[in-house]
Amino acid sequence: MALPFFACVFLAGGSLQPDNLRVEYRANPLGVDVAVPRFSWIDTSSEQNAVQSAYRIEVADSQDLLNSEHPDIWDSGQVNSADSVGIDYNGPALMPGHRYFWKVDVWDGSGESSTSRKFGWWEMGIGTSGWKGQWIGEPTVDVPYFRREFAVDKRIKRARLYATARGLYRATIDGKRVGQGELTPGWTDFKYRLEYETYDVTGLLRRGQNAIGMRLAPGWFSGHVGPSKEIYGTKPQLLAQLQIDYTDGSSETIVTDDSWKAGSGAIRSSDCQTGEVYDGSLDAPGWDKPGFNDSGWSQPTTQALGNQIIAARQSPMVEKIDEIRAKKITEIKPGVFIVDLGQNMVGWCHLNVDGPAGTTVQLRHGEMLDNDGTLYTKNLRGAKATDTFTLGHSGSTSYEPSFTFHGFRYVEITGYPGTPNLNTVRGEVVGSNCPQTGWFDCSDKLVNQLQHNIFWGQRSNYLEVPTDCPQRDERLGWMGDAETFAPSACFNNDIDAFMTKWMHDVDDGQSPQGAFRDVSPAVVVPPAGAPAWADAGVIVPWTVYEAYGDKRMLADNFSFMKKWVDYVDRSNPNHLWINNRNNDYGDWLNVHDETPHELIATAFFANSADIVARTAAVLGEKADAVHYHVLAKAIRGAFMDAFVSPDGAVKGNNQTGYILPLAFGLADEGAGSRHSAMDAKLAAHLVDQIHAHNDHLTAGFVGVGRLNQVLTENGYADVAYKLLLTKTYPSWLYPVTQGATTIWERWDGWTDTKGFQNPGMNSFNHYAMGSVGDWLYQQVGGISVLHDAPASVARPYSRFVIAPNVEPGLSWVKERFDSVVGMVSCSWRTEGDQTVYDIEVPANASADVKLADGNGWFTAHVGGGKYTYTLTSHA
Ligand code: BGC
Repeated sequence: MALPFFACVFLAGGSLQPDNLRVEYRANPLGVDVAVPRFSWIDTSSEQNAVQSAYRIEVADSQDLLNSEHPDIWDSGQVNSADSVGIDYNGPALMPGHRYFWKVDVWDGSGESSTSRKFGWWEMGIGTSGWKGQWIGEPTVDVPYFRREFAVDKRIKRARLYATARGLYRATIDGKRVGQGELTPGWTDFKYRLEYETYDVTGLLRRGQNAIGMRLAPGWFSGHVGPSKEIYGTKPQLLAQLQIDYTDGSSETIVTDDSWKAGSGAIRSSDCQTGEVYDGSLDAPGWDKPGFNDSGWSQPTTQALGNQIIAARQSPMVEKIDEIRAKKITEIKPGVFIVDLGQNMVGWCHLNVDGPAGTTVQLRHGEMLDNDGTLYTKNLRGAKATDTFTLGHSGSTSYEPSFTFHGFRYVEITGYPGTPNLNTVRGEVVGSNCPQTGWFDCSDKLVNQLQHNIFWGQRSNYLEVPTDCPQRDERLGWMGDAETFAPSACFNNDIDAFMTKWMHDVDDGQSPQGAFRDVSPAVVVPPAGAPAWADAGVIVPWTVYEAYGDKRMLADNFSFMKKWVDYVDRSNPNHLWINNRNNDYGDWLNVHDETPHELIATAFFANSADIVARTAAVLGEKADAVHYHVLAKAIRGAFMDAFVSPDGAVKGNNQTGYILPLAFGLADEGAGSRHSAMDAKLAAHLVDQIHAHNDHLTAGFVGVGRLNQVLTENGYADVAYKLLLTKTYPSWLYPVTQGATTIWERWDGWTDTKGFQNPGMNSFNHYAMGSVGDWLYQQVGGISVLHDAPASVARPYSRFVIAPNVEPGLSWVKERFDSVVGMVSCSWRTEGDQTVYDIEVPANASADVKLADGNGWFTAHVGGGKYTYTLTSHA
């Protein structure tokens, strides 16, 4: 019994309107150093099946010119196209520091044009060549303070501060904080590249005397990174440029040079892993305001700019993204208090304190408590994660560190004057502020907690680079973790810009021979990476392309992707990846189920070659497309010959051994033609293997994120659900039953029977095993973008598949995905023997709908709009 019911068919009025105008990923970005910026918008409409038939982009020097319909910079003219994502600017060269205004008109399917008056702007940055000053430093001080006074005696039209550091900086003007960014300028491979931030400081300047103040800390440049420190240099340096344009047409530029003064203040030391020491008695009140007596301050050291690229920040800044109130406070020993925030998080504490001058309060951070209720810090290894605050004056005050971050749920307070309470500390959550785009909610509380943990794992570890963990003395851009989690990450948040930046780090680390590394930025690892880790250099750009339609991501990385595959190919001429596997981690953290390493390696080699072939096809690089297609096919053949028996048994009989050929289509005749007869055999073996472990996970990092996806694609959604809902070790829900609030590095990081795992490697905030999130979104909630789209589909990112798998164990799911073309949603609920589906597809997009209907399937290709279907559930 299947009768679809259309919820709101043909609502009256309203043609297509553009909304959410973006340039280079952002609305109205300040500081764009991309020579050809790209325009994107979403189309909205109250009508069903609305499509965009054409667009026109206009760019002008001012909003007035834009409004007057005489754009002086660029007019695309009416372009017959449904494109709304990543459209290249095609006008004259853009001027550094200049602001441009733009708008877009769109036409719907019947040729009616939009009436929206929305416009946007962007402002170009100053590029590498626009810097006029020098690096300044003060090597005798751990956290130097810099100041420079200047007079403003004319009316200001606009003022911009451009700033970066070899280290971390924070700026103030006349004592007021500039911007909301934290830990700026973040982390790049400083040997080759730095990013700078652009701030509109017009409103912070005043007529008369002004002062700019900047503080500088080691950060990733000279502080602890992984188990080492001083990787890029021994002391931090600062580079800043204040550009003031006056209304009379004149301008002035204040740059870092030896006219600045250097001194010190209350922050005595600060390090990402060690923590911060703040002594209020050594504060220099007014140091960043005009009139401060800086006669005791010195002249900074200066250094000319080097050869590094200095480019405008592309990714979202690290910012405060949430706040957590303390849930519980316990005095475990006299004067030693433990605060439980109830959530494992990344950032620091805001401390409120009232006491006599000279009192020192110490905050130590940890993810767990030991059996006796004390703070558990063994798993932090060398990271001290301790902030110390000394009151400079008596009375009530508050404190937050400036240049460190910790991964923690519990805070130990000592030295507190009096008795702290629940308002004494709160957690300030910080991370790269990538907008949330995914929401998943269902009838099972534990699964919701799993999704929560996945989301928080990403929040905690997407901090400038995608890291393995945020707490111990590691916090590195581990590539294997990043590639396995990327598909889930693309649902949770918009990570297009974040990954665009990180891919620079990945490419910067590539060896001259073409090897990607194990971690990026490339530190503390050998010059060549391992299978599945280094392959992230190929997999991540493709994953991002599929999620967001970002073709430039492919174009910019293509030569690096090819070089990597060529590197592996050169040293493995018979197509099995036997040589140069470097650190060769295998299926990291599998549970007594070690898949042969050469099998894993060869599967990734085939997959990378195949991705390069597909990338070449997207970019129109025909010869490369053929070359890598042939190579991929040869590797697939070699894989099948070496590891797979005719009956589908795979060497080693491990979960991951079956998962990889299924996930990468290794048994297929050609990429894209999935579900060969061999796939059915492989999947059957995989299911046997799972049942042999009583429906538990034994796959490690490499396999586990792909496991439920391949099961579902091959007709075993029921087995995938069973795995999802298994609560005993090893399973996704086991840590949830043990109270996890983030994803753990190991399934049994802590258990109520055995206590803690090996502290040498026991993070409680490691997103890698949360890679099942992708499957929750795609197969349980039911929304995916078109993967492996045939060439005939011009805009794969705007064609969705809506095909939830309704299985026993869940009675309802609600999912939303704020895609690059607008909000897609799918909710389902079972009612007796029927399932009700509510679906929403954005305007100018479409969806291939496939829903269970009795013994068969209901299928439809639908356009933008809302739809409700009530169908008979599968028996
Ligand atoms: C990290 C992992 C990483 C691994 C390499 C560990 O120390 O925490 O997540 O992928 O090393 O095997």
